[in-house]
Amino acid sequence: MSFDLTREPLEDAAGRAADLFVEIYRGLEDRRVDPGVDRDELRRLFRHTLTEEGIGLLPTLSEFRDRILPNSMGTPHPLYLGLVNSSPLPAAALADLLVSCLNNNGGAVHQSPAISAAEQEVVRVFTRLFGLDPSWSGMVLPGGTFATLQGLALARARHFPDWQARGPAALDGRPVLYTSQAAHFSVTRSGVTVGIGDDGVVALSGTGRGSLDTAALEDRIERDRSQGSRPFAVVATAGTTGTGAIDPLSDIADLCHRHGLWFHVDACYGGAAVLLDELRPRLAGIERADSIAVDPHKWFFIPIAAALFLTRHAELECRTFAAGDTSYIPQHGEADAFRRGIPTSRRSSGLGIWMGLRAHGLSAVRDAVRRNIELTRLLERLLAEEGFEVLPGGELSIACARWEVAEGDPDEIDRLQTRIAEDVVRSGLAWFSTARHADRNWLRFNLVNLYTRERHIRRLSGLVAETARRLAGGPV
Ligand SMILES: Cc1ncc(COP(=O)(O)O)c(C=O)c1O
Repeated sequence: MSFDLTREPLEDAAGRAADLFVEIYRGLEDRRVDPGVDRDELRRLFRHTLTEEGIGLLPTLSEFRDRILPNSMGTPHPLYLGLVNSSPLPAAALADLLVSCLNNNGGAVHQSPAISAAEQEVVRVFTRLFGLDPSWSGMVLPGGTFATLQGLALARARHFPDWQARGPAALDGRPVLYTSQAAHFSVTRSGVTVGIGDDGVVALSGTGRGSLDTAALEDRIERDRSQGSRPFAVVATAGTTGTGAIDPLSDIADLCHRHGLWFHVDACYGGAAVLLDELRPRLAGIERADSIAVDPHKWFFIPIAAALFLTRHAELECRTFAAGDTSYIPQHGEADAFRRGIPTSRRSSGLGIWMGLRAHGLSAVRDAVRRNIELTRLLERLLAEEGFEVLPGGELSIACARWEVAEGDPDEIDRLQTRIAEDVVRSGLAWFSTARHADRNWLRFNLVNLYTRERHIRRLSGLVAETARRLAGGPV
């Protein structure tokens, strides 16, 4: 049967989708956090569902209600304290529906004129938030991983222009970039993807919760250079994934300046700290970066995928990512995103950021970030009172804690942390994971959540303590 839009029940379908949207947002705590479903069973549930004939709009929405919704994770649940996946602002979630009905190719302005203008406003606002010069260029990418990759591709082009032209044969020394061991794995992946290999990514051990030690970094750069390597970039992290450590950005900016290195900041998670007067100074130095990755889809409460890449090198972008034959694409004198970055077609995720902030305001994000941090400190205090060892020095919204057992085998105690996390996740009452830090496993609680309140944190602390005592065999 040929598709005929005029015969589709659009009004009913839109109403049904709206009901589902309301059901999800009004029932945040009604569902389990982790759906707790068997993967094979789920695969069976979807097997043979895509056939020659479709079932129609309304039955498909019913299937969403029956098959997808109960088997999905509730990241907006107030006790989702897990990976750095935020609880999305409702207006930003609505943007996803609307943007998909339009030409959502943000690669070229003439394809998505209004949405591209909204994205430019997003870039302008983030440029201001980070205290950057208004001449900085920026674009939305499908993840912080892509933003760091794009930053390192520019770093490579700047430092090794011959490599850009002739490939690795042009190199007269091993290119090296530096980061901390606590940096996100996407830094190494990006380094490997731009061709410097695992050996070209030097990950240095950190201090405290894992921040880069600038003195050790400088020693290593000088040593590598004296041995014929070609240091070209440092990737610092503003808010590491495991423990929320912030690298000393200002010192690293000085060091990069002294050594002529590209300075990329991974502010994917911790970038939202600039919203708070009390934390903004901790990010001082970010304005001297060459490029920045920040994820509005983390602590700015925008749905995945909405990452922002910012760079001071607008002209270099155009040279590095110059497109070949584009005779089929109209030109209008401005450098479209597809001429300044890796993607060609690009989902217009900037609309979600713009609609989220337009509807709810930066103040809603700021309040939530502050509340997340305060509740994280509360959780640390409560867990310490319950007898957990709590990792000191937390500044952002990650709490790490361990249940220690006197005279236990260290590996067994590490496994106990994993069992505690798995047990709570299985209950469907909360979601968090464990992270490795200082050669030990820690329960890791990450609040990137609009909806968590004090009562949830008190409930969680009791639940985790009860689980730890039960599994460790102590008094409950
Ligand atoms: C500090 C940090 N950088 C980069 C990433 C990767 O970002 P994305 O998942 O948006 O690619 C993450 C993901 O959690 C992160 O925490």
